[in-house]
Amino acid sequence: MVKVAVLGAAGGIGQPLSLLLKANTTITELALFDIANTAGVAADLSHINTPAKVTGYKGDEQLEGALKGADVVVIPAGVPRKPGMTRDDLFKINAGIVKNLATAAAKHCPKAFMAIISNPVNSTVPIVAEVFKAHGVYDAKRIFGVTTLDIVRANTFVSELKNTEPQSTNVPVIGGHSGVTIIPVLSATGHSFTDEQVERLTQRIQYGGDEVVKAKDGAGSATLSMAYAGARFVNSLLEASVLKKTGVTECTYVKSDVAEGLEYFSTVVELGPEGVSKIHPIPSLNAHEKKLLDAAVPELKANIQKGVDFVKNA
Ligand code: NAD
Ligand code: LMR
Repeated sequence: MVKVAVLGAAGGIGQPLSLLLKANTTITELALFDIANTAGVAADLSHINTPAKVTGYKGDEQLEGALKGADVVVIPAGVPRKPGMTRDDLFKINAGIVKNLATAAAKHCPKAFMAIISNPVNSTVPIVAEVFKAHGVYDAKRIFGVTTLDIVRANTFVSELKNTEPQSTNVPVIGGHSGVTIIPVLSATGHSFTDEQVERLTQRIQYGGDEVVKAKDGAGSATLSMAYAGARFVNSLLEASVLKKTGVTECTYVKSDVAEGLEYFSTVVELGPEGVSKIHPIPSLNAHEKKLLDAAVPELKANIQKGVDFVKNA
């Protein structure tokens, strides 16, 4: 039995993500939770002839049912950006939402893998970790910030430039998930780029989210590409933990000591039966990438502290 719970399942990301998870035949139960509209989404998805039994839960009083027995909890609950906003501007609303959902998960499914999509990811992951610590159920190996969309974007942009197959292009993107904290390691792709290409690619990967926010013009941020990326990440988690495949890796934002002075950082992480099985170090960086890392550190540090303080000082 493999139960996956999606919290925020009726939202812009939640619906297509749940659709893609319903198509994942490793999942036997898909629990959809939201504060509104879950019944319709659950009824709709339940007609698809794949193994996952779909259940819908609405409102705080049904949260326990969604979480009980969950092996994986994916959280895309919360508000998205509008043009002119930073991800950190979402902290005010989303920090509280994530904290409440994490509190329920710590009580009802403390051993679940927690995959956090809600922004600002740089801060919401520390929030989940601090909540689990406060409940005495913390396991750093099981809490992940989903940064997969940065990798998906980087792979697309590089493959467009280099005419390579998008599916087999693999650009490590390390650091965090916001503007300057997103560090594409283009030197690790095996391709050569002019300085101008590096400049343009880096800017586009760091601000790909803004590109979508601008195009949606007030109607939200990336949902469909995020659903794809989120489904890929959950699939990797299940391949490593349930199907016991070895060598499954994803860049993901986890508790890590690879970057001096930062408690959380994304690098390539090998996944295993218990979640994180091996955290790869920061790959060898060229001078340009070292500058990107230097620029990322202060913002990432502040974002992490803000998340930790939100729980500790509550
Ligand atoms: P949305 O507004 O379309 O959907 C959010 C859903 O969350 C809604 O259905 C809402 O009812 C639900 N919700 C609100 N409070 C809730 C609660 N307490 N419990 C359960 N559900 C709750 O937004 P969206 O476009 O799906 O984006 C969701 C979040 O994901 C945003 O914070 C956005 O910034 C973030 N995001 C992250 C990434 C990433 O790469 N990690 C990518 C895209 C978006
Ligand atoms: C993204 O990268 O698309 C998300 O983090 C959403 C956003 O606010 O840009």
